[in-house]
Amino acid sequence: MALCKRRGFIYQASEIYGGINGFWDYGPLGAQLKKNLREAWWEDMIMRPAWGQNGPNGSRVRCLPLETRIVQHPKVWEASGHVGGFNDPMVDCRETKSRYRYDHVSVYVPAEGDAGERPLFAYMKDSPSEAKQLKKAEKAFGATKTVMLTTIAVTDFVKVLGPDAEKVGTLTAPKQFNLMFKTFIGATAGEDDTAYLRPETAQGIFVQFKNVVDTNRIKVPFGIGNTGTSFRNEVTPRNFTFRSREFDQMELEFFCHPDESQAWYKFWRDFRMEWWKSIGLAGDNLILREHEKDELSHYSTGTSDVEYRFPFTAPGFGELEGIAHRGNYDLTQHQTHSKVKLEYNDTERGELLPNGARRGERYLPHCIEPAAGLDRGVLAILCEAYTKDESRPSPEFMKFHPRVAPVKAAVFPLVAKDGMPEVAEKLHTELTDKFWRLGAIDFDEKQTIGKRYARMDEAGCPYCFTIDGDTLTQHTVTVRDRDTGTQSRIALDKVASFLTEKLGL
Ligand code: GAP
Repeated sequence: MALCKRRGFIYQASEIYGGINGFWDYGPLGAQLKKNLREAWWEDMIMRPAWGQNGPNGSRVRCLPLETRIVQHPKVWEASGHVGGFNDPMVDCRETKSRYRYDHVSVYVPAEGDAGERPLFAYMKDSPSEAKQLKKAEKAFGATKTVMLTTIAVTDFVKVLGPDAEKVGTLTAPKQFNLMFKTFIGATAGEDDTAYLRPETAQGIFVQFKNVVDTNRIKVPFGIGNTGTSFRNEVTPRNFTFRSREFDQMELEFFCHPDESQAWYKFWRDFRMEWWKSIGLAGDNLILREHEKDELSHYSTGTSDVEYRFPFTAPGFGELEGIAHRGNYDLTQHQTHSKVKLEYNDTERGELLPNGARRGERYLPHCIEPAAGLDRGVLAILCEAYTKDESRPSPEFMKFHPRVAPVKAAVFPLVAKDGMPEVAEKLHTELTDKFWRLGAIDFDEKQTIGKRYARMDEAGCPYCFTIDGDTLTQHTVTVRDRDTGTQSRIALDKVASFLTEKLGL
């Protein structure tokens, strides 16, 4: 977090006013990193979906983009279930005024038998309360075991010692908090004009499904992608940007025939895992976790999460993206609530008529939803890239995959004299004109060359090119590799092609 602030990746929103809980801004390096990640998603999910592979139907995967608004008709959120059910149950502590997610509170109880008059010791996993309460529980019970607070009757909360409390019985009964932000439409609006800021980008896709089908020559199976900002009034925003109140999502709804839906579910689940690996999250920190049957929504026949081992979840993992088989739940809901028919007429299926034509099969397509968090993706990439190596002159460096690195290269004159700045500026202009779409090309002539390399290491710039005395006589430059710190020489006129190759273009 310190490096993110110091180098301009992420700032606290409204920092000069003391900040605002759950909101974060991106500095110049962070804004470019986030743009690169969003574009990588757009290219690999919309422009050339799944890297041009064939899907389980044997044809190339087809997807279209869409951009829908943050404010939708309030009925959208009734149909989607967010008005009625998008709640987090919370318990408050009357003594410490802390608020906890009801289903996240654990409790130490005796390993066997009843606690009798002794208290039960509540704690939050991976917080200081875990060790503190364990000590007390072992003193009270000897052998202990953990149960979830949700398994303890609310009438027995009088026996529970809250995670950070001194007195027993201070936890309240759980209360529901709706996570949707409310707003009012119109300058003279009242309660009747309530609308919501979207809690997910996905619903905009279902609501425009019919328009997309009617106005494009696209046939099921196909996907619609939507990216943008979502809002959730999280009760406990925390872990840097991991759980924010305003964040960006990148969601695809892939519509297919029910018979093919399991194959498409597996296809997208596996591809999404490979995709996160391809942009630099390869290794032990990334897992694909298939949900157990009892974790699934009633309409879902399969959900997997791509999970990343964030420093604050380690040794556990935190969700980066969910890939859900949603059946035809959402289209059914919107069809019922809007009373507009959303059925798809599949002219490649259905009854063959005696004249050789097909009647067409009408159905509500099933939907596979890979739903990724853009800010969470940026956070995972920052965590993965952060590398410490005390043996280097720059002990902290950011090992970004070249595709997402915000600065692609830097050009330095070794000293700001003897004609070196002029040659360096010319090279800087040449590289900027060639690579500006992908990210910044930095130019720096201040401080020692070692300090300039260290600065670029912290920005995660993969290659630095230094113009020195030999450049003027032999037309070669020094290339420094961020990850190894090694230096080599290449021809001045080959720098652009070197970078093209190294950036994998
Ligand atoms: N349409 C399905 C949907 O929205 P979700 O699992 O609630 O599913 C998808 O959200 C992704 O959005 C998550 O995997 C996560 O990356 C991101 N996300 C959700 N809530 C977030 C929050 N409060 N802050 C940052 N990212 C969040």
